Amino acid sequence: MQTLAQLNLPHLAVEDAAFAADPVSHFREARKTNPWIAASDIGYWVHDYQAIRDLLSQDDKFRPAYDGIVEIMGARGTPWGRFTEEQLISLPPEQHAALRTTFARKFTPRFANQLRPMMRETITRMLDEWAPRERFDFEEFAANFPITIMFTLVGAPVEEIPGIRSSLETLGLAFSMDKSRIPEIHEGYERLERLVQRIIAERRASPDKGTRGDLLDLLIETGDEGNVPERQLQDLVIFFFVAGYDTSKNVLTYTLRLLLDRPDLYERCARDHEYCRKVLDESLRLFNPGSVPRFTDQDVVYRDVLIPKDTMIWFTLNISGRDETAFEDADTFDPDREIDPATRPIPFSLGKHMCLGQHIARAQLQEALHQIAQRLHDPQLAGEYGWRPYPGAWGLKGLPIAFTPTDKTPEPA
Ligand code: HEM
Repeated sequence: MQTLAQLNLPHLAVEDAAFAADPVSHFREARKTNPWIAASDIGYWVHDYQAIRDLLSQDDKFRPAYDGIVEIMGARGTPWGRFTEEQLISLPPEQHAALRTTFARKFTPRFANQLRPMMRETITRMLDEWAPRERFDFEEFAANFPITIMFTLVGAPVEEIPGIRSSLETLGLAFSMDKSRIPEIHEGYERLERLVQRIIAERRASPDKGTRGDLLDLLIETGDEGNVPERQLQDLVIFFFVAGYDTSKNVLTYTLRLLLDRPDLYERCARDHEYCRKVLDESLRLFNPGSVPRFTDQDVVYRDVLIPKDTMIWFTLNISGRDETAFEDADTFDPDREIDPATRPIPFSLGKHMCLGQHIARAQLQEALHQIAQRLHDPQLAGEYGWRPYPGAWGLKGLPIAFTPTDKTPEPA
């Protein structure tokens, strides 16, 4: 058996812009030296689909490394540092299990479906405002989409969307671990915290509390039933804003980028609501924003390699669907591909931290894509785009498009 330190591992410059522009090629190159793990200045990277599955399923051997990110950023003891270390995903195992169990039973596909009419109305309103422009930066539109939906689902005042959006942008960049961003991260976090404290207090005091059936009602009711402390409830609502923002934005933006090259599939999305689900599943296989950070909580042996306790490991969920050893024609965008259950894509992770909002995320993306394809006809790339830092909430930076607006739903073919 060898230890990690004894292995001849490729070293990846994950913080470089060139890496963010094409991580798949870099990981494929790294595979030639070691088939499943690589090193970097900020920890090790497990990039093989099967290794990610095998290791991420062993929850008891790993702990989320968000406290490590706070440490690297020198933010211990600050409000953002406290939140990052105490948010649902970072809690010690028993506390995490108790809080997650309280809420998880409510986050069903059924609840997500109940929210669909609210989501549809919100997207229609957004498209009424954006579609007449005939060209815009799709990433900017997509940034407004999860936040507008989240504001609707928790009954927050829409005038505050621009300020909170800029807070969420900043908080997303915290994971690129650039310390110079710390002052803006603190400012962004505190603005979001004030909003969340206010909407919870206002809802508690409101006569229609519990009758709206929205996400905030559900969170408050469930929290009260489970005697969840107010601070934890606030942290959870803040976490929902953060967890659902650049994930959903970046997936929607990337999906449109794929469809710009496949007008036939785009048109089908306009006609076929169910087909949008398939397109999104396939898009989530090819890309998603998340690299999952963990520390080993004990010595871990895998493929005859000893990974010592307290090693920082990143799981590259975001490109795990591009692993050619697990997926045939891994780079081909084919929403009709047959998925083998043994190699199911894992964009929402595995194990006890698997995304709690995945049904909401899927529902809002499906509703959005269907209406976008109806309202923005024949979209074309109208300029250049770049890439956001990797790791972090990775994804496209900007996506200028031009299109013909239509306010009519196309007839089924
Ligand atoms: C396409 C959009 C999304 C993607 C790709 C995504 C992905 C993920 C991933 C990979 C994790 C695991 C992180 C880790 O283990 O370190 C996660 C956790 C989580 N996500 Fe999402 N997410 C999305 C949208 C959302 C939305 C919209 C919400 C809320 C409405 C949400 C709420 C959560 C929560 C609460 C957790 C933590 C669960 C726990 O620790 O028990 N996510 N998500």
